[in-house]
Amino acid sequence: MPLLEIRKLSLSFGGLRAIDMIDLTVEADEIVGLIGPNGAGKTTLFNCVTGIVPPTSGEILYRGESLTGLRPDQVAAKGVSRTFQNIRLFREMTVLENVMVGGHCRMRAGVAGAIFRPKAVIKEEEGLAAKALELLRFVGLEQKEDLWARQLPYGDQRRLEIARAMAGDPSLLLLDEPACGMNPQETNALMELIHLIRKRGITVLLIEHQMKMVMGISDRLVVLDHGIKIAEGTPEAVRADPAVIGAYLGKESIGAQTG
Ligand SMILES: Nc1ncnc2c1ncn2[C@@H]1O[C@H](COP(=O)(O)OP(=O)(O)OP(=O)(O)O)[C@@H](O)[C@H]1O
Ligand SMILES: [Mg+2]
Repeated sequence: MPLLEIRKLSLSFGGLRAIDMIDLTVEADEIVGLIGPNGAGKTTLFNCVTGIVPPTSGEILYRGESLTGLRPDQVAAKGVSRTFQNIRLFREMTVLENVMVGGHCRMRAGVAGAIFRPKAVIKEEEGLAAKALELLRFVGLEQKEDLWARQLPYGDQRRLEIARAMAGDPSLLLLDEPACGMNPQETNALMELIHLIRKRGITVLLIEHQMKMVMGISDRLVVLDHGIKIAEGTPEAVRADPAVIGAYLGKESIGAQTG
């Protein structure tokens, strides 16, 4: 059974078919790249999977179980986490606190626990902090846990987003343009990080415009254009696909770095 199976997924905004009858599967342990020109529907697809907008029609199955109609927190609790194209950190919180917030969907203590703070809750929070520190080390932000999130350079903010998403213990991680705004060195380090994420047993579906990066890291690519899936296959096959070349012509070169 695939980890994620999207069947005939469509979403219209008024008259605009942002995604149109998309079929997409992701197997456990894969790194799958989702590419396509600006406005192709990539982020909208992530928004449907993570419960931010309900699809107009179609089905989203995760480990064979329907995610369709679930709220974002319910999707996260099932093990699907994401990062955002427009970084969404709590700028006035510390780096560590941002990661701890990402782990809260896994905490057992409810509101009462948070107010009265019995021993068990304090212990759970300590566990959360320890885990957050480990994740910060993992993404390369050690020693930065006490900075305000807004003090981090852009590339580090993208890494912090990844740590926050990982704090929810996902099995599937959706990354929306993680290399956007990164220089070539940062992008290379990010590729290494994504390989390490997979080694931890987390499956990755990533949207990316930097072709060198996404072609270099993905086992398989899925290409959208105007809401429609126009190609799918190995990076080599996709790069040579006339439909893909046609979709990018006149919009942006396939090597372009846009965001
Ligand atoms: N909330 C919304 N209301 C109306 N139209 C929307 C909304 N969100 C997205 N769209 C439209 O849906 C289409 C797909 O947008 P989407 O953001 O999914 O594209 P994308 O592939 O992520 O593009 P980019 O590479 O620029 O991030 C675009 O035409 C966009 O303007
Ligand atoms: Mg997008």
